[in-house]
This record gives sequence, C-alpha cells and structure tokens, in this order.
Amino acid sequence: MPTRVRSHAKINLGLAIGAPRRDGFHALTTVYQTLELHDVVTVTARRAGTRAIRLTSSDARVPLDRKNTAYKMVELVLDELGVAADVLVDIDKRLPVQGGMGAGSANAVAALVGLEVELAALSSTGNKGPRDQGTEAGTRELGTSRWQARRLEVAAQVGSDVPLFLIGGTVLGVDRGQEVYPLPDLEAMWCVVALPEVGVSTPQAFRDWDALCASDGLTEEGSAGKLNELSRAYASAFAEAIPGGGVGAGSSGVLSAGKDLAGPQESALVRAGISSWIQNDFERVVFSQHPSLAEIKRLLAASGKPEAALCAMLSGSGSALFGLYRTKGDAEAAQARLQSASVASALTKTLPRREYWGQMLL
Ligand code: C5P
Repeated sequence: MPTRVRSHAKINLGLAIGAPRRDGFHALTTVYQTLELHDVVTVTARRAGTRAIRLTSSDARVPLDRKNTAYKMVELVLDELGVAADVLVDIDKRLPVQGGMGAGSANAVAALVGLEVELAALSSTGNKGPRDQGTEAGTRELGTSRWQARRLEVAAQVGSDVPLFLIGGTVLGVDRGQEVYPLPDLEAMWCVVALPEVGVSTPQAFRDWDALCASDGLTEEGSAGKLNELSRAYASAFAEAIPGGGVGAGSSGVLSAGKDLAGPQESALVRAGISSWIQNDFERVVFSQHPSLAEIKRLLAASGKPEAALCAMLSGSGSALFGLYRTKGDAEAAQARLQSASVASALTKTLPRREYWGQMLL
C-alpha cells in the first residue's frame, strides 16, 4: 500500500544572516513557521535483493536524480538502516519550485516519514526470507530514541532547512539553519503567499550578501554577537507572547484552526511586538536586484490601513513573499490587491505543530 504524506511549506518570520564563514556557509538566526500549503509525496517500498530508488513528479522542473533532496534522503536513510528495498517516490507539486518556501526540503522529510511507515509495514507482513533479515533489523531501529536523534542529523546532511520539517510549527533555526529548536507555537493565522514570476537563486543571493558584507566591513566574528543576541530575543519574545508557553510547548491552543482571528484576541506576534522588529536580511540584496518584489511587499503590507498585514516580507531568499493577517477578510483584500497588479497568490494559514503532525499522513 503506498503511503501518502503532506509535505508542508514554510515561511521565515525574520531571517538575519551573518558574514560568510570559512566553510562556505553563513551563520543565521531565523524563525521558521510551517503553513497549511503543501505538496503531496507518495512513497511505495517493496522488498528487494538490491536497493533501487525511483522518483516521479507531476512537475517537469523537479529533478528526478540524486540532485533531488527526497532522493538524497531515501538513499541516506536506507544506508543508515542497512536496508535493501525498491523505493518509489512520487512528488505531486503544488508549491513553487525554488520559491524560498522550503518545498524541496519538506519533500525530503515527507519521503522520510513515508519510508518509515512503508518499512514498518514491510516488516510486519508477507513471507520473510533470509534476505529480509536486514529489513527486520533496520526497521527495529526506527522505533528507538537513537533513531529520533539520528534522523535529525541525516536531515541536516540533506540540506540546511530540512531539519525544521522534523519539528514543524514555529521553530527557531540557528547555525546554518539546520540547528533547530521548537518555539512555543504561534496560533493559526491567515497568510497570503505572493508567487511572483521572477526566480531568485539562493546561492546568488548569498553571493550578493557577501559583497554587501565586504563593503560594510562585516566579519564572521562581528556578526556572531548580533545573531546570538537575536536568538535570545526571539526565544524570550515567543515565550512571553504565548500564555503558559515555555520553549518546547506544543500548540498554544489560543485559537483553534478554522476560526477567524477577528475579535479581542490579539495575535501573539503583536503581543510580543515581534511584528515590529523582525526583518529578512535577504531583502537588502534581493529587492535591489528585483524592484518588483519590493512593490509586492508594499501591496501585501497595506501599511496604515485597517486591513494592514501583521507583517509582510520575503520568505527565505524569495521569490515568494508572504503577509500575515488578523482576519480572512483582510487576507482576501490583500489577494485582491495582488490580483489587480497581476501577481499570483495563494491563501493559506500558518500550521501549528500539533496540526502539522496530525495532518501529515493522508
Ligand atoms: O544546505 P543547503 O544545501 O540548502 O545549502 C545550499 C547552498 O546555500 C550552500 O551551498 C551555500 O552556498 C548556501 N548556504 C549558505 N549558508 C547557509 C545555508 C546555505 O551559504 N546557512
């Protein structure tokens, strides 16, 4: 039986980047937030004498070889568990490819979750021959706490923004983005994602950032203090904003998903004042390359108006931008503004941790 898994998108509620490091990466401090918006990844695993991994996708732009993060994940997990199986991964693409929404990284985690379910089913059914002993031993490993820690390391090997999808909800990301900590969950909020036609290359955006650091004289050591301070500010702001929410708490339960956010309840983002100080450093380099994206941010924000966004900014290195809103009506008004400027958009909601895991398997 194939296993179908929702592969949710993320946005960055602020992204501060340090100067380039000697290892080619950049230290950063960010808050990731998962969204309801998702691709669907279907995993099928069969017993086999030798390992075989095949990928299919509804979108021709998705690579079907080792370049695909889902491929890398399956390969690493089978290696790690010492399991030989014939694995088929289908990616039904609904999210933008290279949009700054972590779609490829989420696909990798969905493939991992689907593979775990498939391997568990394989070991509990069918005629088992001598060649299945490896599968049995590997599958027993899946239930252990050692595997829970190991899969985070495997995810970090696949990509910097893969591990966040093993936590879900509101997540603090530091180091190169792979070191993740669950934050007290923000309540579900209406979110509009603008999907501009221009593409932004993440490596190019980092190179442009490097040029800016060089001209500003920002060094690795100089930026470390700023990033650490910001991590502390995020952790304490989120803990204070969410009643009873220590770091590591699950869904806040302030509002259940599906309810409108109109009413006396202010968003935790506003309560903490976070919406006034978060920013995405990539905007400094990406907006100068693509001025149309700065205009889309302005349309999403509607600053000074009653229907203004709680915050609006670029997600990751873009090109997707998002706005968060108090009510569905405010979000729909933002979509109408984008539509009159011929910018495609999607209406969604932020997805707290409990719902993220509760809705993952289809
Ligand atoms: O980790 P991931 O494969 O997603 O990174 C892709 C590229 O993005 C890296 O090779 C690096 O050039 C850049 N990157 C970076 N700093 C980060 C994350 C990614 O410079 N924190």
